[in-house]
Amino acid sequence: MIAELEKKTVSMKDAGRVKEIIMSMQRGGEKKLQVISDFDMTLTRFGHNGKRCPTCHNIVDNSQLVSADCKKKLKDLCNTYYPIEIDHTRSIDEKYPLMVEWWTKAHDLLCQQNIRKDMIAPIVKDSGAMLREGYEVFFNGLHQSNIPLFIFSAGIGDILEEIIRQAGVFHDNVNVVSNYMDFDEKGMLIGFKGELIHTYNKNNSVLRDKEYFKQLDNRTNIIVLGDTLGDLTMADGVTNVENILKIGFLNDKVEEQRQMFLDAYDIVLEKDETLDAVNGILKNIGAKN
Ligand code: TMP
Ligand code: MG
Repeated sequence: MIAELEKKTVSMKDAGRVKEIIMSMQRGGEKKLQVISDFDMTLTRFGHNGKRCPTCHNIVDNSQLVSADCKKKLKDLCNTYYPIEIDHTRSIDEKYPLMVEWWTKAHDLLCQQNIRKDMIAPIVKDSGAMLREGYEVFFNGLHQSNIPLFIFSAGIGDILEEIIRQAGVFHDNVNVVSNYMDFDEKGMLIGFKGELIHTYNKNNSVLRDKEYFKQLDNRTNIIVLGDTLGDLTMADGVTNVENILKIGFLNDKVEEQRQMFLDAYDIVLEKDETLDAVNGILKNIGAKN
């Protein structure tokens, strides 16, 4: 039905059910559709030419804005907590407080680094941040079809926005909920605004604009894109759901996480650095691209 779903990176536990959901979404067309997506390692690439691509946090950590001593501390935190974030043997309840610990410690370190607001654009420019292949079709197609894209990220909002701005795809159909930096009157980083968002609280509890999903209550067909099990609750705030299709990027520890991903996501994309499958589905539902 959709050529992009024939790729060998694509797997599904129940292909029949996926087909039914897509056909039902197709009947609703682009007017009933909305997309909710994670950012780091979902809209951005996990790797390129054998090298890991940076998350929003990594872009700041790796920049010249951060001292060598602080870089080491941030790297140690990453080496401690990232394996926990993706550990398939621990429950979300067990991981939750440890993620709060990681984010809190990392943000405290960043706030000691004299990071200036006007340095955000240049560090993003110099970073190796890469959106997944096919991002132009994805972002531009959604924009042209007036399909809302909600980016729900535990990364850093200022960095995320700058990545998509520099890529020329920050259109007015895009809404972002993320951790935004708080700068003082001199433009120095002094903290992060609002409630902390980490991998495992991406749900209704951290949404500030409760009106967003209410305004979209005629868009009852939802596509969710993520790369961790924490991303599965991103659509919890949607008021009216007819069909939901969850697409998961399985980037790391593939063997260990495969079964868990197949059980949780309708479609699993294994070590696939492209948005081809997503774009194929969107086109099938009626989005322009
Ligand atoms: P996401 O919600 O857009 O995927 O962003 C969260 C990712 O950020 C998460 O998978 C782990 C990553 N991260 C870092 O790379 N460094 C850090 O210091 C922190 C706190 C998170
Ligand atoms: Mg992610």
